[in-house]
Amino acid sequence: MIDNIGRKINYLRISVTDLCNLRCKYCMPEEGLCKKSHEDILRIEEIEDIVREGAKIGIDKVRITGGEPLIRKGIIELIRKISKIDGIKDLAITTNGLLLKKYAKDLKDAGLNRVNISIDSLDKEKYKKITRGGDINEVLEGIQAAKKAKLTPIKLNTVLIGGFNDDEIKDFVNLTKDYEIDVRFIELMPLGEASTWAKSHFIPNTTVLERFPELMALCKEDKGSPAKYYKLPNGKGKIGLINPISNHFCSNCNRIRITSDGKIKPCLHSNYEINIRNLMKENVKLLDILRLAIESKPKEHTINEFEYEPVIRNMYQIGG
Ligand code: GTP
Ligand code: 5AD
Ligand code: SF4
Repeated sequence: MIDNIGRKINYLRISVTDLCNLRCKYCMPEEGLCKKSHEDILRIEEIEDIVREGAKIGIDKVRITGGEPLIRKGIIELIRKISKIDGIKDLAITTNGLLLKKYAKDLKDAGLNRVNISIDSLDKEKYKKITRGGDINEVLEGIQAAKKAKLTPIKLNTVLIGGFNDDEIKDFVNLTKDYEIDVRFIELMPLGEASTWAKSHFIPNTTVLERFPELMALCKEDKGSPAKYYKLPNGKGKIGLINPISNHFCSNCNRIRITSDGKIKPCLHSNYEINIRNLMKENVKLLDILRLAIESKPKEHTINEFEYEPVIRNMYQIGG
Protein backbone atom coordinates (compact mmCIF):
# COMPACT_ATOMS: atom_id res chain seq x y z
CA MET A 1 0.00 0.00 0.00
CA ILE A 2 1.16 3.55 -0.77
CA ASP A 3 0.96 6.04 2.10
CA ASN A 4 -0.08 9.70 2.01
CA ILE A 5 3.29 10.94 0.81
CA GLY A 6 3.88 8.24 -1.78
CA ARG A 7 5.98 5.76 0.20
CA LYS A 8 5.36 2.09 -0.53
CA ILE A 9 4.81 0.32 2.80
CA ASN A 10 5.73 -3.34 2.40
CA TYR A 11 7.61 -4.13 5.64
CA LEU A 12 6.00 -5.27 8.89
CA ARG A 13 8.09 -5.59 12.07
CA ILE A 14 6.41 -7.61 14.79
CA SER A 15 7.64 -7.74 18.36
CA VAL A 16 6.58 -11.05 19.89
CA THR A 17 7.77 -10.38 23.46
CA ASP A 18 9.19 -7.57 25.60
CA LEU A 19 11.25 -10.06 27.58
CA CYS A 20 14.86 -10.93 26.92
CA ASN A 21 17.48 -13.34 28.19
CA LEU A 22 19.98 -10.45 28.33
CA ARG A 23 19.80 -7.00 29.87
CA CYS A 24 21.94 -4.77 27.65
CA LYS A 25 22.76 -1.60 29.53
CA TYR A 26 21.36 0.81 26.92
CA CYS A 27 18.18 -1.21 26.52
CA MET A 28 16.92 -2.90 29.69
CA PRO A 29 16.76 -1.66 33.28
CA GLU A 30 19.17 -3.46 35.61
CA GLU A 31 16.37 -5.07 37.59
CA GLY A 32 14.83 -6.58 34.43
CA LEU A 33 11.12 -6.46 33.63
CA CYS A 34 7.88 -7.62 35.17
CA LYS A 35 6.33 -10.26 33.00
CA LYS A 36 3.16 -9.10 31.23
CA SER A 37 0.10 -11.22 31.74
CA HIS A 38 -0.61 -13.72 28.95
CA GLU A 39 -3.83 -11.99 27.95
CA ASP A 40 -1.99 -8.77 27.20
CA ILE A 41 0.27 -10.37 24.62
CA LEU A 42 -0.89 -11.06 21.09
CA ARG A 43 -1.53 -14.74 20.53
CA ILE A 44 0.27 -16.65 17.76
CA GLU A 45 -3.03 -16.91 15.83
CA GLU A 46 -3.65 -13.16 16.12
CA ILE A 47 -0.19 -12.42 14.73
CA GLU A 48 -0.81 -14.83 11.88
CA ASP A 49 -4.09 -13.05 11.06
CA ILE A 50 -2.37 -9.66 11.05
CA VAL A 51 0.27 -10.85 8.60
CA ARG A 52 -2.33 -12.51 6.38
CA GLU A 53 -4.34 -9.28 6.16
CA GLY A 54 -1.14 -7.25 5.71
CA ALA A 55 -0.15 -9.42 2.76
CA LYS A 56 -3.42 -8.43 1.07
CA ILE A 57 -2.33 -4.79 1.02
CA GLY A 58 1.24 -5.37 -0.07
CA ILE A 59 3.22 -6.47 2.99
CA ASP A 60 5.84 -8.84 1.58
CA LYS A 61 8.63 -8.50 4.16
CA VAL A 62 8.17 -9.53 7.81
CA ARG A 63 10.67 -9.29 10.63
CA ILE A 64 10.11 -10.88 14.01
CA THR A 65 11.68 -8.94 16.87
CA GLY A 66 11.49 -8.58 20.66
CA GLY A 67 12.84 -8.33 23.37
CA GLU A 68 14.37 -11.60 22.38
CA PRO A 69 12.00 -13.33 19.94
CA LEU A 70 13.50 -16.78 20.39
CA ILE A 71 12.31 -16.99 24.00
CA ARG A 72 8.66 -16.63 22.92
CA LYS A 73 6.75 -19.87 23.34
CA GLY A 74 5.52 -21.09 19.95
CA ILE A 75 8.07 -19.11 17.92
CA ILE A 76 8.82 -22.00 15.53
CA GLU A 77 5.11 -22.54 14.96
CA LEU A 78 4.67 -18.82 14.26
CA ILE A 79 7.47 -18.85 11.69
CA ARG A 80 5.91 -21.89 10.03
CA LYS A 81 2.51 -20.19 9.84
CA ILE A 82 3.83 -16.88 8.49
CA SER A 83 6.11 -18.51 5.93
CA LYS A 84 3.07 -20.21 4.40
CA ILE A 85 1.16 -16.97 3.85
CA ASP A 86 0.87 -16.05 0.18
CA GLY A 87 2.88 -12.98 -0.74
CA ILE A 88 5.47 -13.09 2.08
CA LYS A 89 8.81 -13.10 0.28
CA ASP A 90 11.23 -12.23 3.07
CA LEU A 91 10.85 -13.55 6.61
CA ALA A 92 13.60 -12.66 9.08
CA ILE A 93 14.36 -12.43 12.79
CA THR A 94 16.43 -9.94 14.78
CA THR A 95 17.94 -11.83 17.72
CA ASN A 96 20.77 -11.65 20.23
CA GLY A 97 21.78 -15.07 18.92
CA LEU A 98 22.05 -16.89 22.25
CA LEU A 99 19.42 -19.46 21.29
CA LEU A 100 20.41 -19.93 17.66
CA LYS A 101 22.54 -22.93 18.47
CA LYS A 102 19.39 -24.61 19.70
CA TYR A 103 16.90 -23.32 17.11
CA ALA A 104 18.69 -22.41 13.84
CA LYS A 105 17.85 -25.64 12.02
CA ASP A 106 14.22 -25.72 13.22
CA LEU A 107 13.78 -22.10 12.20
CA LYS A 108 15.14 -22.78 8.72
CA ASP A 109 12.94 -25.87 8.35
CA ALA A 110 9.94 -23.80 9.45
CA GLY A 111 10.60 -21.32 6.61
CA LEU A 112 12.71 -18.54 8.13
CA ASN A 113 14.95 -16.95 5.52
CA ARG A 114 17.58 -15.10 7.53
CA VAL A 115 18.74 -13.61 10.84
CA ASN A 116 20.22 -10.32 12.04
CA ILE A 117 22.25 -10.82 15.21
CA SER A 118 23.00 -8.12 17.78
CA ILE A 119 26.56 -8.14 19.13
CA ASP A 120 28.15 -5.03 20.58
CA SER A 121 31.60 -6.37 21.49
CA LEU A 122 33.89 -9.17 20.35
CA ASP A 123 35.67 -9.20 23.69
CA LYS A 124 34.42 -11.76 26.22
CA GLU A 125 34.61 -9.47 29.24
CA LYS A 126 33.18 -6.40 27.50
CA TYR A 127 30.34 -8.44 26.05
CA LYS A 128 29.57 -9.73 29.51
CA LYS A 129 29.61 -6.19 30.86
CA ILE A 130 27.34 -4.52 28.27
CA THR A 131 24.82 -7.40 28.35
CA ARG A 132 25.05 -7.76 32.15
CA GLY A 133 26.19 -11.35 32.17
CA GLY A 134 25.95 -12.70 28.59
CA ASP A 135 28.42 -15.30 27.31
CA ILE A 136 29.85 -14.34 23.93
CA ASN A 137 30.75 -17.94 23.13
CA GLU A 138 27.06 -18.77 22.94
CA VAL A 139 26.53 -16.02 20.37
CA LEU A 140 29.54 -17.12 18.33
CA GLU A 141 28.23 -20.68 18.33
CA GLY A 142 24.82 -19.27 17.35
CA ILE A 143 26.33 -17.47 14.38
CA GLN A 144 27.99 -20.72 13.26
CA ALA A 145 24.70 -22.56 13.62
CA ALA A 146 22.87 -19.91 11.58
CA LYS A 147 25.50 -20.21 8.87
CA LYS A 148 25.26 -23.98 8.85
CA ALA A 149 21.47 -23.79 8.60
CA LYS A 150 21.82 -21.28 5.71
CA LEU A 151 19.92 -18.53 7.48
CA THR A 152 21.78 -16.16 5.20
CA PRO A 153 22.83 -13.45 4.52
CA ILE A 154 23.75 -13.02 8.19
CA LYS A 155 23.95 -9.44 9.44
CA LEU A 156 25.56 -8.44 12.71
CA ASN A 157 24.12 -5.32 14.39
CA THR A 158 26.58 -3.38 16.52
CA VAL A 159 25.42 -0.33 18.41
CA LEU A 160 28.35 2.10 18.45
CA ILE A 161 28.94 3.40 21.96
CA GLY A 162 31.59 6.06 22.57
CA GLY A 163 34.07 4.97 25.24
CA PHE A 164 32.88 1.37 25.08
CA ASN A 165 33.34 -0.23 21.68
CA ASP A 166 34.72 2.50 19.42
CA ASP A 167 38.13 0.86 19.96
CA GLU A 168 36.75 -2.33 18.38
CA ILE A 169 35.63 -0.82 15.08
CA LYS A 170 38.70 -2.29 13.41
CA ASP A 171 38.00 -5.81 14.70
CA PHE A 172 34.40 -5.67 13.49
CA VAL A 173 35.37 -4.26 10.07
CA ASN A 174 38.04 -6.94 9.69
CA LEU A 175 35.44 -9.68 10.15
CA THR A 176 34.15 -8.78 6.69
CA LYS A 177 37.56 -9.49 5.18
CA ASP A 178 37.37 -13.19 5.83
CA TYR A 179 33.71 -13.96 6.33
CA GLU A 180 30.60 -13.58 4.19
CA ILE A 181 28.94 -11.63 6.93
CA ASP A 182 27.61 -8.06 6.97
CA VAL A 183 28.51 -5.89 9.94
CA ARG A 184 26.24 -2.91 10.56
CA PHE A 185 27.11 -0.11 12.92
CA ILE A 186 24.02 1.50 14.43
CA GLU A 187 24.11 4.94 16.01
CA LEU A 188 22.96 4.81 19.61
CA MET A 189 19.48 6.35 19.87
CA PRO A 190 18.43 8.33 22.96
CA LEU A 191 15.65 5.88 23.81
CA GLY A 192 14.89 4.01 27.00
CA GLU A 193 17.89 3.51 29.27
CA ALA A 194 20.11 5.39 26.83
CA SER A 195 17.92 8.50 26.99
CA THR A 196 19.79 9.72 30.06
CA TRP A 197 23.28 8.73 28.94
CA ALA A 198 26.07 11.28 28.63
CA LYS A 199 26.55 12.90 25.22
CA SER A 200 30.03 11.36 24.90
CA HIS A 201 28.49 7.91 24.34
CA PHE A 202 26.67 9.11 21.21
CA ILE A 203 29.12 9.13 18.36
CA PRO A 204 28.30 9.44 14.67
CA ASN A 205 29.06 6.24 12.84
CA THR A 206 30.83 8.20 10.13
CA THR A 207 33.73 7.58 12.55
CA VAL A 208 33.95 4.20 10.77
CA LEU A 209 34.58 5.92 7.42
CA GLU A 210 37.17 8.24 8.94
CA ARG A 211 39.11 5.25 10.29
CA PHE A 212 38.73 3.20 7.09
CA PRO A 213 39.08 5.55 4.11
CA GLU A 214 39.55 2.47 1.91
CA LEU A 215 35.87 1.51 2.35
CA MET A 216 34.10 1.74 -1.00
CA ALA A 217 30.47 2.90 -1.09
CA LEU A 218 28.07 0.43 -2.71
CA CYS A 219 24.87 1.25 -4.59
CA LYS A 220 21.74 0.83 -2.50
CA GLU A 221 20.07 -2.46 -3.45
CA ASP A 222 17.22 -2.10 -0.96
CA LYS A 223 15.91 1.48 -0.96
CA GLY A 224 13.88 0.84 2.18
CA SER A 225 16.84 -0.33 4.23
CA PRO A 226 18.14 2.09 6.84
CA ALA A 227 21.70 0.95 6.14
CA LYS A 228 24.15 2.46 3.67
CA TYR A 229 26.59 -0.22 2.59
CA TYR A 230 30.35 -0.18 2.01
CA LYS A 231 32.99 -2.79 1.30
CA LEU A 232 36.67 -3.29 1.93
CA PRO A 233 38.62 -3.92 -1.26
CA ASN A 234 38.50 -7.75 -1.56
CA GLY A 235 36.20 -7.95 1.48
CA LYS A 236 33.81 -10.90 1.51
CA GLY A 237 31.13 -9.19 3.59
CA LYS A 238 29.74 -5.65 3.66
CA ILE A 239 29.86 -2.87 6.22
CA GLY A 240 26.56 -1.11 6.84
CA LEU A 241 26.06 2.22 8.53
CA ILE A 242 22.68 2.92 10.10
CA ASN A 243 22.44 6.58 11.08
CA PRO A 244 18.94 7.13 12.41
CA ILE A 245 20.09 10.29 14.18
CA SER A 246 22.60 12.07 11.96
CA ASN A 247 20.99 11.15 8.64
CA HIS A 248 17.46 9.87 8.92
CA PHE A 249 15.86 7.81 6.20
CA CYS A 250 12.21 8.77 6.77
CA SER A 251 11.59 9.67 3.12
CA ASN A 252 12.33 6.03 2.18
CA CYS A 253 10.73 4.45 5.24
CA ASN A 254 8.75 1.38 4.18
CA ARG A 255 7.69 -0.06 7.55
CA ILE A 256 5.14 -0.23 10.31
CA ARG A 257 5.65 -1.96 13.65
CA ILE A 258 3.50 -4.01 15.98
CA THR A 259 4.29 -4.21 19.68
CA SER A 260 3.86 -7.47 21.58
CA ASP A 261 0.76 -6.05 23.29
CA GLY A 262 -0.93 -5.40 19.98
CA LYS A 263 -0.37 -1.71 19.23
CA ILE A 264 0.61 -0.60 15.75
CA LYS A 265 3.35 2.03 15.69
CA PRO A 266 3.43 3.80 12.34
CA CYS A 267 6.75 5.43 13.35
CA LEU A 268 9.50 4.25 15.72
CA HIS A 269 10.08 7.76 17.06
CA SER A 270 6.48 8.77 17.71
CA ASN A 271 4.21 7.97 20.64
CA TYR A 272 1.20 7.56 18.37
CA GLU A 273 -0.15 3.99 18.55
CA ILE A 274 -3.20 2.15 17.29
CA ASN A 275 -4.70 -0.48 19.58
CA ILE A 276 -5.65 -3.41 17.37
CA ARG A 277 -7.81 -5.33 19.86
CA ASN A 278 -9.80 -2.24 20.92
CA LEU A 279 -10.65 -1.37 17.35
CA MET A 280 -11.56 -4.96 16.53
CA LYS A 281 -13.95 -4.92 19.51
CA GLU A 282 -15.62 -1.94 17.83
CA ASN A 283 -16.00 -4.11 14.73
CA VAL A 284 -13.34 -2.38 12.69
CA LYS A 285 -11.84 -4.91 10.30
CA LEU A 286 -8.19 -5.85 10.69
CA LEU A 287 -7.51 -4.84 7.09
CA ASP A 288 -8.94 -1.36 7.76
CA ILE A 289 -6.89 -1.05 10.96
CA LEU A 290 -3.71 -1.73 8.98
CA ARG A 291 -4.81 0.77 6.31
CA LEU A 292 -5.43 3.37 9.02
CA ALA A 293 -1.93 2.79 10.42
CA ILE A 294 -0.32 3.27 7.04
CA GLU A 295 -2.38 6.38 6.33
CA SER A 296 -1.30 7.88 9.65
CA LYS A 297 2.44 7.42 9.12
CA PRO A 298 4.14 10.76 9.79
CA LYS A 299 6.26 12.36 7.07
CA GLU A 300 9.36 12.22 9.26
CA HIS A 301 10.52 12.00 12.85
CA THR A 302 11.36 15.17 14.76
CA ILE A 303 14.06 13.75 17.00
CA ASN A 304 16.49 16.55 16.16
CA GLU A 305 13.84 19.27 16.53
CA PHE A 306 12.91 21.47 19.46
CA GLU A 307 9.31 20.21 19.60
CA TYR A 308 10.37 16.52 19.85
CA GLU A 309 8.37 14.60 22.40
CA PRO A 310 10.54 11.72 23.67
CA VAL A 311 9.25 8.23 22.94
CA ILE A 312 7.86 6.66 26.10
CA ARG A 313 8.31 3.03 25.10
CA ASN A 314 11.68 1.37 25.35
CA MET A 315 13.40 -0.36 22.45
CA TYR A 316 12.68 -3.81 23.91
CA GLN A 317 8.97 -2.96 23.65
CA ILE A 318 9.17 -1.68 20.10
CA GLY A 319 11.57 -4.23 18.68
CA GLY A 320 14.30 -2.01 17.22
P1 GTP B 1 17.26 -5.70 7.02
O1 GTP B 1 15.96 -6.08 6.44
O2 GTP B 1 18.18 -6.89 7.14
O3 GTP B 1 17.91 -4.51 6.37
O4 GTP B 1 16.98 -5.35 8.55
P2 GTP B 1 16.61 -4.02 9.29
O5 GTP B 1 17.77 -3.12 9.33
O6 GTP B 1 15.35 -3.48 8.76
O7 GTP B 1 16.31 -4.64 10.74
P3 GTP B 1 17.09 -4.68 12.11
O8 GTP B 1 16.15 -5.20 13.13
O9 GTP B 1 18.36 -5.42 11.96
O10 GTP B 1 17.32 -3.13 12.37
C1 GTP B 1 18.54 -2.62 12.66
C2 GTP B 1 18.41 -1.34 13.43
O11 GTP B 1 18.09 -0.28 12.58
C3 GTP B 1 17.29 -1.31 14.44
O12 GTP B 1 17.60 -1.96 15.60
C4 GTP B 1 17.18 0.15 14.70
O13 GTP B 1 18.21 0.54 15.55
C5 GTP B 1 17.40 0.69 13.32
N1 GTP B 1 16.12 0.90 12.68
C6 GTP B 1 15.36 -0.03 12.09
N2 GTP B 1 14.22 0.52 11.61
C7 GTP B 1 14.27 1.83 11.92
C8 GTP B 1 13.36 2.93 11.71
O14 GTP B 1 12.29 2.82 11.13
N3 GTP B 1 13.74 4.13 12.17
C9 GTP B 1 14.92 4.30 12.80
N4 GTP B 1 15.22 5.51 13.21
N5 GTP B 1 15.79 3.29 13.04
C10 GTP B 1 15.48 2.08 12.61
N1 5AD C 1 19.91 2.76 20.04
C1 5AD C 1 20.26 2.02 18.94
N2 5AD C 1 20.02 0.71 18.79
C2 5AD C 1 19.39 0.11 19.79
N3 5AD C 1 19.02 -1.19 19.93
C3 5AD C 1 18.39 -1.30 21.12
N4 5AD C 1 18.35 -0.12 21.78
C4 5AD C 1 18.97 0.78 20.97
C5 5AD C 1 19.27 2.16 21.06
N5 5AD C 1 18.93 2.89 22.12
C6 5AD C 1 19.32 -2.22 18.93
C7 5AD C 1 19.84 -3.51 19.46
C8 5AD C 1 19.56 -4.44 18.31
C9 5AD C 1 18.39 -3.83 17.63
C10 5AD C 1 17.17 -4.67 17.64
O1 5AD C 1 18.14 -2.60 18.29
O2 5AD C 1 21.19 -3.55 19.76
O3 5AD C 1 20.65 -4.56 17.42
FE1 SF4 D 1 17.83 -7.96 24.81
FE2 SF4 D 1 18.39 -6.77 22.47
FE3 SF4 D 1 17.66 -5.31 24.55
FE4 SF4 D 1 20.03 -6.53 24.57
S1 SF4 D 1 19.37 -4.91 23.12
S2 SF4 D 1 18.54 -6.46 26.27
S3 SF4 D 1 19.61 -8.38 23.48
S4 SF4 D 1 16.38 -6.78 23.53
